[in-house]
Amino acid sequence: MANPLQTLVKQAFPGTYRMLKQMLYRDKDGAITRFLQGGPPEQKRERRAIANALIAMEWEIPSGHTQAEILEVVATVLNLPPSVPGVVVEAGCFKGASAAKLSHACAMRGRKLVLFDSFEGIPPNEEAHDQNIFGGSAAFAAGDYAGSLETVQQNIRRFGRIEQCEFHKGWFENTMPDFHQPVAAAYVDVDLASSTRTCMKHLYPLLSPGGVIYSQDGHLPLVIAVLKDEDFWVNEVGTAPPQFTGLGTDKLVAIRKPLAQ
Ligand SMILES: C[S@@+](CC[C@H](N)C(=O)[O-])C[C@H]1O[C@@H](n2cnc3c(N)ncnc32)[C@H](O)[C@@H]1O
Repeated sequence: MANPLQTLVKQAFPGTYRMLKQMLYRDKDGAITRFLQGGPPEQKRERRAIANALIAMEWEIPSGHTQAEILEVVATVLNLPPSVPGVVVEAGCFKGASAAKLSHACAMRGRKLVLFDSFEGIPPNEEAHDQNIFGGSAAFAAGDYAGSLETVQQNIRRFGRIEQCEFHKGWFENTMPDFHQPVAAAYVDVDLASSTRTCMKHLYPLLSPGGVIYSQDGHLPLVIAVLKDEDFWVNEVGTAPPQFTGLGTDKLVAIRKPLAQ
């Protein structure tokens, strides 16, 4: 709805604009409806508040996820038992839409949201992704998905809960080795196999038993190859290959650490 009429209504009548957005929003993939109907009854009010926040930011911040994908991660954060200690991590922020959404769930559960990004987009790389597993093209050039730290903070301040957030600016290979906090859940949305390797190498050892890391890049063959690489898990991460859900079939892959570990 980015047209002159929208801009006019937005600037002249911000209240009317907000109301129109709520009225005109179409839950295209049914994800918000499923999210509102899911979960235990005591989460109804929280889920309604999160759904309203999602709709409010829908036309305002470009993002790299579908509502179904991010709501699966949001629901996981809401449902993490307090016995699983740790922060929530997002690696790969773009303009801050997914972070703003996650920040609401983090505020509701009293968990910190730790955000890692270069805040200058994808690093230079020679990864030939070519096609994703669904047949679409997949190419990631240096600087793609750039969102400055200021933009991300501004968007979270406007649509999320900035007080939950801690920011780590720089290339993952430089910022993650100094990070040592227990992690309850992580959302890794980084497009490159090399970036996925770095995130898994540093985040999986910090993952609490019962916790989960999501990769949003399960549609990319080079990322699938990293996650399926037994030698990588054993020799670089220092663990047996973990349990995966959706590997090789879904864009959003869940990597769980069993409670017994
Ligand atoms: C697809 S975007 C993230 C989309 C965002 N999660 C959303 O849903 O809107 C990928 C992000 O990963 C970041 N990124 C990828 N590789 C990186 C690396 N090695 N170090 C730091 N940032 C990286 C980019 O800067 C970019 O912001």
